[in-house]
Amino acid sequence: MSAPLKITNLVKDYIGIRAVDDVTFEVKPGEVFGLLGPNGAGKTTIISTITTLEKPTQGRVEVFGVDVTREPKKAKSFFGVVPQEIVHQGFFNIREILQIYSGFHGILNNEEQIEYLLEKLDLKNYSGRMVKQLSGGMKRRLMIAKALVHKPKLLLLDEPTAGVDIELRHSLWEFVEELRRGGITILLTTHYLEEAEKLCDRVGIIHKGKFVKIGPTKELVRELTDRQIRLELKDGTVQTYAIPSQQKIGDFFVKHNVAVEKISDIQIEEGSLEQAFQRLINHD
Ligand SMILES: Nc1ncnc2c1ncn2[C@@H]1O[C@H](COP(=O)(O)OP(=O)(O)O)[C@@H](O)[C@H]1O
Ligand SMILES: [Mg+2]
Repeated sequence: MSAPLKITNLVKDYIGIRAVDDVTFEVKPGEVFGLLGPNGAGKTTIISTITTLEKPTQGRVEVFGVDVTREPKKAKSFFGVVPQEIVHQGFFNIREILQIYSGFHGILNNEEQIEYLLEKLDLKNYSGRMVKQLSGGMKRRLMIAKALVHKPKLLLLDEPTAGVDIELRHSLWEFVEELRRGGITILLTTHYLEEAEKLCDRVGIIHKGKFVKIGPTKELVRELTDRQIRLELKDGTVQTYAIPSQQKIGDFFVKHNVAVEKISDIQIEEGSLEQAFQRLINHD
């Protein structure tokens, strides 16, 4: 089977700036892949080339083997996108919008999927409301429902939880997990490292249009961070150590000749994706 998403040597130039600079990566079936980077790194531009909003300057974007530039219509049937910026549609209510979007995709009787999405995204009680009557969080949930009306096999989420309150953020994370269990492949961009660490099987870290690192989330953390160890001794002194995340505590004790009978307490703080990210991005 072709990869849900394959991007090869992608370059995107705007006037005066190379927003995406020779990016190559693949998203595998069923995985949640995170595109991480600071503001202006090029994340949204990559999403825009996938959705054909922007044309690649160089390189190729394929969705399930379909070149998005050559066969945009076919490619679009495979993916759904939740853009970073909320788009307003003033004249229709939530249910009508979802029906209209189903129509765009050539699906006529889509009530079952629409009901499922209204239910799952907690929009059922508001389905008669116009967009202008919705809160920010409801609008965001509507955008997600819109992206899923045609049951895409690939979902693109551009900063899905930016500006969203904690409760909604957590329920969106749960929904992403549920979608993943249902077999959908997900590409998400975020600058919340905690979100990426929680959700993503693999991440690509992008800076100034270039990938600086790509790999399984846990492996990146292990490779690029330390564990902080704080020993409280019975005589009241405190010792702190930073050891490589790969190193086992037992080996650390042996190496440093730590006498267990002298210890009153131990605290261990594991490395985070946030720390790995800082190490990579501040290195240049
Ligand atoms: N339509 C555009 N015209 C010109 N420059 C753009 C346009 N869109 C984005 N850029 C520039 O491209 C770079 C990458 O932007 P973007 O992809 O939005 O980054 P991110 O989503 O990672 O924050 C930034 O320097 C941004 O200013
Ligand atoms: Mg962006």
